[in-house]
This record gives sequence, structure tokens and C-alpha cells, in this order.
Amino acid sequence: MIDKATVQKITDTADIVEVVSDYVHLIKRGRNYVGLCPFHNEKTPSFSVNSVRNFCYCFSCKKGGSPVNFIMEKEGLSYHDALLHLAQKYGIKVEEKELSEDERRQLNERESLLLANEWASKKMEKALRDTEEGRAVGLQYLYQRGVTDEAIKKFRLGYNLDNGHSLYDDAKLEGMDLNSLAEVGVLGQSQKTPGAYYDRFRGRVIFPVLNPSGKVVALGGRDLKGGMAKYINSPESSIYKKSNELYGIFQAKGEIAKQDNCFLVEGYMDVIGMWQSGMENVVASSGTALTDGQIAMIHRFTNNITLIYDGDAAGIKASLRGIDMLLAHKMNVKVLLLPDGHDPDSFAREHTPEQFREYVQKHATDIIRFKAQVLLKDVGNDPQKRVAAIESVVSSLAHIPDKVKRNVYVQECSRILGVREEVIEGAVEKSRSDVVERQMRQRQTDEINRLDQQETNPQPDVSKQLRPTKGREIVEMYPYYPFERNIVFQCVRYGIMDFCEAEFEDGSLDMLSVAEYVAEEIQEDNIWFSFPAFAKTFNRILDLKEDFLNDNVAFNANLEKEKKEMLKVGYDEIASRDLNMEEIRRAERLLEDRVNEELAQRRFEFARYYVEQKLSSHHDDDVRRTVTEAMHEEQPLSNIYIRNNPVSERKMEIDRMRMLVPRGVLEWKNEMLNQMIRAKMKQLDSMIGRASHEEEQKILMETQALMEKRGQLGKVMGDRTIGKKIK
Ligand code: UTP
Ligand code: MN
Repeated sequence: MIDKATVQKITDTADIVEVVSDYVHLIKRGRNYVGLCPFHNEKTPSFSVNSVRNFCYCFSCKKGGSPVNFIMEKEGLSYHDALLHLAQKYGIKVEEKELSEDERRQLNERESLLLANEWASKKMEKALRDTEEGRAVGLQYLYQRGVTDEAIKKFRLGYNLDNGHSLYDDAKLEGMDLNSLAEVGVLGQSQKTPGAYYDRFRGRVIFPVLNPSGKVVALGGRDLKGGMAKYINSPESSIYKKSNELYGIFQAKGEIAKQDNCFLVEGYMDVIGMWQSGMENVVASSGTALTDGQIAMIHRFTNNITLIYDGDAAGIKASLRGIDMLLAHKMNVKVLLLPDGHDPDSFAREHTPEQFREYVQKHATDIIRFKAQVLLKDVGNDPQKRVAAIESVVSSLAHIPDKVKRNVYVQECSRILGVREEVIEGAVEKSRSDVVERQMRQRQTDEINRLDQQETNPQPDVSKQLRPTKGREIVEMYPYYPFERNIVFQCVRYGIMDFCEAEFEDGSLDMLSVAEYVAEEIQEDNIWFSFPAFAKTFNRILDLKEDFLNDNVAFNANLEKEKKEMLKVGYDEIASRDLNMEEIRRAERLLEDRVNEELAQRRFEFARYYVEQKLSSHHDDDVRRTVTEAMHEEQPLSNIYIRNNPVSERKMEIDRMRMLVPRGVLEWKNEMLNQMIRAKMKQLDSMIGRASHEEEQKILMETQALMEKRGQLGKVMGDRTIGKKIK
């Protein structure tokens, strides 16, 4: 763990222009810099770097963020490692924080499991070459399958002797931790003699699975004797979740980024076969269906994926299975079918690398086109099958987040399927909203589950009880995602800026920030953020208040000093000119106006960018992501304003804040009332003929009360917004 002060130092020091310049040739344009995006191939620059806000963004592929984000993305590093990377760049000494008992235990456990795997891997690599049996059995097998020495070295292939105790003996001899070796499945516990162990991978060729940073997280052992299990693999442990790893990613990641494409195959041998054919950007899902975690890992290096399957029926079916998930991840997906009966390994063996590459060039097909064609082939004259095929294609199209891209496919699929474009488009857009809704709910449940699992930290007490007491309960009841998103994004932009004065119960007056105003407003109706990432981000924004007040004192003191300096320089300059009294007075007034304006602008920017400055490199993924997304989504004011008139730009932005924030709260509340009213109506419907007149009357009254409240909402909010008094 890096201590908080050092993290702060790193994020304060890392300069986005310098960091990005290590990868991109930047050209100054106005207040920003632009260059060719390092995350995708392009010919005209859409990558923009804003030095004032220490932030970068690609207008085309939408990647970017703070310096930490940029390095995470570009180097494929974790948050922690990205910080170390930047610390090194800037020569900042990193003091790793003292770990808590619990953290140390977890870390130790991980370390010792990784150590066990690394040790075993090395032993088996050695056994493959340095023992008679290794050469005669293991190496002989690999050679016979055409595996080269180079590949053996690159993929760290090994062999575990067949006697059942060679590793165990070595482990004892070298004082290795037998428990760890057993936990990663290198050793098995003997059933007969408690406390004794045996080699689990005996007589097998070993394929180590490396994570993106090159650590051995698992081993796969191939049987050579026609036994029951062709492969045995390491069991899941705290260092290995099968569904989160990809075989070959460590060896392939550089090439994936460089080629801007990733080949996905099924097995260990396929990866090696492709690699030997010169297609080094290849990973395997190890025989299971692709998972979200695996897609996210690939996505760190490219947006483009080519699935490779056997051209038989099973292969075709498999290729269609995961595509909706891939599309939802904004991946461009192609599929390549090999001639029936071939896997990439066998195909590579029977063809030269040139032939293989030519085959890929020729046969890789866009997945949606492919799907439409495959389904259509099955249809024949059966109208029902035809409808099912269209529906299935529509469902895939609905998973594409980008509307422009969706429309391109709509056109193409309409041609392939022979259905009018409007029909497909209508169906896709309708289905799209379901997909979005479902994804949102899924994300929400995932987040809630995750939060439930981790002990929730007690929230620090904020003066005057601005924080909700029953945050979580309220949360789960009101999943008003789009409304919450809007508000939390506004608070990323304006959260710390002054909004209005409020009077508290104890009679004290205080200035409420935008975020505090929102908190007050929504709590009044017992609302809180239901989406955990938003709740967390919003709480962090509220937390910033105290820091802001402190920082603001220092900032203003500094500014005062600068003001004096600027005035002094200006007065001196005026005095040096040959002017009469009248002219001097006019020049001085102009100078003072200019200086005041400059200061006002600086004060504005300080508050305006404070939240993003503090949170765009936050360690919590949810917070960082939410803030980054909000910054990405900002609508810039018209360029004419920005260039010609900073005063009116500032005023416009403040006006916009004063309008958008209360409106967002209003819309959120309004939606809540709508849903409550709808629920009551439904209840009424189901009561008819079944409940007493009184009961019906009661619900009716309640419904009416809600409707009235809804009618008043706009008016009440309008009255209270300006010069708000809170009792
Ligand atoms: P395959 O059966 O296609 O194996 O399974 P393969 O990699 O082509 O191996 P060879 O060519 O027969 O030597 C694909 C992947 O599924 C996993 C492995 O990761 C394998 O590479 N698998 C397969 C297992 O984990 N266990 C098994 O018993 C079989
Ligand atoms: Mn195979």
C-alpha cells in the first residue's frame, strides 16, 4: 500500500501533458493540446489534452482520464502499479504503508501461493530438459507436435516426472511451504497416509498460465498416456479465478496493443500454434465460454477481437454464443472459421505462416454479418424460423452501445435478411431500451452484492447531519439510475461551488455547496442515491468540503499576494508612461478591472475544477470511473465564447449550474412521484370488487395527494431555490 500523502504527491506532480507526451506527439492548440490517439488507429488527431484540468480524452474512442488513468490504460497496469510507474517517472520516493494485520495476511498468502507456483514452474521447466525422462517423454512429445524450442522457452513449458514424488521430495529438501504447494494444486494430499503428499501433475507436460504481469497463477498439465483427463488444471485459489484469466495474455499483450487486435482461440496448443505462425496477438479462454472479466482484460489492450473456431457445426454454434456480451463491451468482433476438422494448432502445422495469415485476411468476417448469414441459411422457407432468425439478429444489434454503429449494421442486416430497414431499426431501438435496463439492473445488483460482501466503513460524521442515516435502505428502494447519474455528474462538475445560503436549526447561517444543497433537497423526500457507485462518489464529494475550505484559505492568501504583485507591476508601468492625471486614472481603473477579472476567473476555476482534481485519480474504481465519465461527458460551451469572452463563459456556466442542478433534482423527485402514483393506480385496479368502499376511497385519496404534490413540485422548488432557508 502506498500511503495517502504519497498518492497525493504523485497525483499532484504528474502532469498530463508530460505523461501523454511520452506516447503521443502533441501539438498546442489554443488552451489544449491535440495528438493522434494512442488507443486506436487514426489519421486525424482526436486526442485532446487539457493542461489546466490535467486530463486527456479521445473524442473518437472515448478513452482517457487523469494521468493515472492514462497509464493504467496505456500500460495495462493496476491503480497501484500505475502510481508506482508515475512515481518513478517523477523520482518520487514511495513509502509503502504499514499494512494492517489482515492486509498483511492476505498479501502473504497471495505471495506464498505465487511463490509456490513459480517454484514448481521452474522445477518443471528444468525437468523437461535436464532429465532423461523429461527429454524422452515430454520434450519428445512436444517436438513431435511441432513445438519449437523458442516456443517452449517463451511459454515456459515443462514436465513433471512420472514417479509421483519428485517435486514433493525437492520441496521437502528445500524447505518449501508444503501447504501452499498443496493449495495451488502442485501437490496432492495423500488419502492413505495423512500428512504425506504426492505430485499431482505427474507424467504430464506443463503449460503455466501467466497473468498480465507475468506471474504464474495456474498450471495446466497435459496427459501423455491416454488417461482419463486430457488436462488437469490448478484449482481455484486466492490467486486463480479461472474465469478471469486468459492463457497467453502475458506473452501476447504487447502484440495485441500493437496489432490493435486480439485472436481468441480455445486451447493451450492453439495459442502456441498461432504464435509459431507469427500471429503473436493470441490468447485462449481455455475451453470455457468467454466471461466479462476476460473481455475486460482484452479490452485493456484493444477494441478488436477475432474469434477463431473450427468450421464444424459445434464451432459455428460456439462462435455465436458470447457475441452479445462482446458487443455490449463495445468490442468490434470478427469471427474466423477454420476448415472443418481443424483447430488453429493443426491448421498452423499443415500450413506455412504466410498461408495461415492469408487465410485470416480472406476469411475473417464481421460477427453480425456472419450471424445473419448463418441464421438465414437455416431458415429455408419456414416463416417461423425466419422470424426467430430476425429476432435473434435484432437482439444482438440491440447490444451495441454506439448508435451510429448500430445504424450501419441495421442497414446491412436489412439487406442480408431482406427486411425493410425501418422495421429492423424499430425493433432494435425497442429492444435496446430493454437491454440498457437489464444491464443497468445487473450492474446494480452486482454492485450491491459486492458492497454487501465488503464490510461497509462507518461514514465519518459530517457537521449538521447532512448525511443520510439509512442511506443503504433508501438506496435499494429507489433505483432511479438516469436521474441519479445526471445529478451526480452535475456534482462532479459543480459540487463544491457555492449554491445558496441556508439557516440551520441552531440559528446559524451557512453557505451550502451544490452537493450539500442536493443532499438537503433529496433527503427531504427521503431519497438517496440507489446506485452504489453514485452513492459512493456523492459521499466523497460531500467529504471534500472540509478540505476545500482549508485549501481555499491558502489559495486565496496566495492570490492576494499575486494581486498585489500584479497591481504593483501595472502601476509602475503606468507611471513610466507619459500620461496626464486623467489618463493615469483611467489606465489604473482599467488595470484594476483587469486584475480583478483575472482573480475572479482563477477563483472560479479553482472551485469549478476542485472535485475533478481531487477525485479523478481516486483509488476507488467506482469513484474514479464515475468522475472520469462525468468529465468525458461534459458539453463544452461554444468555442466562440471560450475564445473571445471568458467573462461570459464563466457567467454562462454559473447560470447553467443554477438551472441544471435544481432541474435535475426536480426531475428525479417528479419521477419518484410518478412511480408512486403508478403503483397506487395499480393497487386500485387490483382492488376493484375485492375491497371495501372505504379501503378504495383511502387509496384514491392517497393517489390524489401524490398527484397534488407532483403538481406543486415545480412551484415549491422554484420558490425555495433562491435564498433558500432550511429549517
Ligand atoms: P482441447 O480438447 O481443444 O485441447 O481443449 P487442446 O488444447 O486442443 O489440446 P490438444 O491439442 O488435444 O493437445 C481446449 C482447452 O480446454 C481445456 C484446456 O485449456 C484446453 O487447452 N481443457 C480441455 C481442460 O481444461 N481439460 C480437459 O480435459 C480438456
Ligand atoms: Mn488441439
